[in-house]
Amino acid sequence: MARILFLATLAAAVVVGVGYANQSTAKKTVVIPVTKAPANNGKQMYVNYCAPCHGVDGKGNGPVASALKKQPTNLVALSRNHGGKFPSKHIVSVLEFGATNPSHGTAEMPVWGPMLESMDTAANEPNLRVLRISNLNRYLQSLQEK
Ligand code: HEC
Repeated sequence: MARILFLATLAAAVVVGVGYANQSTAKKTVVIPVTKAPANNGKQMYVNYCAPCHGVDGKGNGPVASALKKQPTNLVALSRNHGGKFPSKHIVSVLEFGATNPSHGTAEMPVWGPMLESMDTAANEPNLRVLRISNLNRYLQSLQEK
């Protein structure tokens, strides 16, 4: 069964549908249907969840990017922009808690932790949130350009 989650991006924030109240009163709302992907497949999760904004190639030019106020980060340059070292801890934290940096306004990057957790809720399913985040993190690491 394909479970669909929705990301609704507003002018300045992202609101998640399905189990989350969408308190949007913004005029422009972009809804991205997100189809559940296997927790052990970082690439497929990336394509389903992240590519609409960050692009299949990770460079930040996905189909939804132009509707956002802020350009999605170029994810193939994470290592290059962190002194040649992949910022693994930082990425895990961004995926858990979002990219909001108070000094830089409101981030449009969705907070993935709760969404990733909400993907595996059937009776006998273990909570795969940590596995999902770790496999996404590893996939991003594999995208790094030198
Ligand atoms: C709705 C569009 C959207 C989706 C979907 C999205 N992102 Fe982002 N992402 C952004 C934007 C916009 C930024 C830049 C945010 C900022 O700097 O405030 C960003 C930033 C990031 C960053 C950099 C944060 C930092 O502090 O340097 C990482 C890493 C990232 N996204 C990973 C992901 C991953 C992995 C997924 C899929 C699980 C994902 N994003 C899905 C819009 C999105």
